[in-house]
Amino acid sequence: MTTPAEAKEDTINLNHSKLGTKQYWDDFYTLETNNFKENKDDTGECWFDDCDAENRMVQFIMNNDGEQFDIENDKLLDLGTGNGHLLFELLEEGWNGPLVGIDYSEVSVRFAENIANTKDYKDVKFARSDILNDTDSFLVANEEQFDLVTDKGTLDAIGLSKEMYGAEGNLKGVDVYPTTVGKLVKTGGVLLITSCNFTEEELTRIILKNDKFTKWKTINYPTFQFGGVKGSAICSIAFMKK
Ligand SMILES: C[S@@+](CC[C@H](N)C(=O)[O-])C[C@H]1O[C@@H](n2cnc3c(N)ncnc32)[C@H](O)[C@@H]1O
Repeated sequence: MTTPAEAKEDTINLNHSKLGTKQYWDDFYTLETNNFKENKDDTGECWFDDCDAENRMVQFIMNNDGEQFDIENDKLLDLGTGNGHLLFELLEEGWNGPLVGIDYSEVSVRFAENIANTKDYKDVKFARSDILNDTDSFLVANEEQFDLVTDKGTLDAIGLSKEMYGAEGNLKGVDVYPTTVGKLVKTGGVLLITSCNFTEEELTRIILKNDKFTKWKTINYPTFQFGGVKGSAICSIAFMKK
């Protein structure tokens, strides 16, 4: 019989989907690159735009400037950056510190660099990196380097992958994520994640599992009520590195 704890675990075992494969993202960004070649205003998909997620993340960061964050000097890393849109938006809003975007799809990295060059966005760098591979050269070279690490939709994609990790091959991507990603964040720094595949409770459980983070703040979204239960289709949580 399944125990309540096991049933809870199952809710974060999302169905595997093509969105969990690198091939999907390579093809996706190849298409977006071609669209951009035809129309320089088409910089591609902005994930969770219908929920205003990117804008809320940027406003959250700006509202904490001078307290937790220092937009003049802090070093920010965007995980699974895709077309780099979140970083470009931060630049537009006045972020002045170093900005770095990483993605395991080299097509994404070339696409984001192409947009940055075309639109003349300076002071933003992109690199190829698999954030779940603890021997990845970017991860190894950048331990404790970032004041703020952002993730919009990347942990969601990882939750849809059937890749297994660890010496025994028995760990899912969501199991290794807090450890590999946690190494990149400075002590006292922040990991801000936006997800539409995990509830606030599930996301908190995933990130707090290795005891490297505490839950710091959440971003508010409009809630809906169904059957007496209040919920939101999306959540953004800021975790602080211990
Ligand atoms: C849903 S898209 C989000 C893209 C971007 N953050 C945005 O909001 O537009 C998920 C991204 O995660 C990247 N990704 C998935 N698994 C990854 C991994 N293990 N390491 C690095 N990037 C990964 C994909 O290539 C894709 O760009």
